[in-house]
Amino acid sequence: MDLPRNDLSMIHRFVPGGADGAAPLLLLHGTGGDENDLLPLGGLLSPGAALVSPRGRVLENGMPRFFRRLAEGVFDEDDVRRRALELGDFVTEAREHHGLDRPIAVGFSNGANIAAALMMLAPDALAGAILIRAMVPLAEPPEFDLSAKPVLLLSGGMDPIVPAENAARLARQLQAGGAALTHETLPTGHGLGQMDLTIAREWLAASFG
Ligand code: MLT
Repeated sequence: MDLPRNDLSMIHRFVPGGADGAAPLLLLHGTGGDENDLLPLGGLLSPGAALVSPRGRVLENGMPRFFRRLAEGVFDEDDVRRRALELGDFVTEAREHHGLDRPIAVGFSNGANIAAALMMLAPDALAGAILIRAMVPLAEPPEFDLSAKPVLLLSGGMDPIVPAENAARLARQLQAGGAALTHETLPTGHGLGQMDLTIAREWLAASFG
């Protein structure tokens, strides 16, 4: 596999797609992760899909993130807005540079939160999204129209970071914005596991296959 690239506005890894034309995946890591983390997940979710995996540009005690937070679960919403739009610009650049269709975001934790914010602020940027352990990124998002784009929200019923009420609020926000939302709450905590992979793979095949 090639080395991390810094020829676009975000450091990223790119894995070219195979011949079958599967929608590209935009992989967005969690706090303290990087552009390498979700490449194996992307390959398992949609074998042969092109993978674009940027590294978050914010550092919290040396840990990469996609936007600033003031405390756990308390976000700097001005930074969320700015960074989500920057990510949207990166998606446009990556699509032009690598010749890609509109991607489906696959985000975990902080990466899922920036993907949700991107859907709210630039609803055309993505073809859909898989949001694993996401929470509300913007308390009062603007009105947005996702025009029935498929979104899968996978929450953890025992997640110590994302209260059930918060995940439910995010689900309502996405539905109010016209997403074709599937929300499942798994008997697990904040970590990503085999159940996420199984459900996400089936959902991807049913929604985009
Ligand atoms: C965040 O964006 O801060 C997440 O909800 C939690 C985390 O990334 O640790």
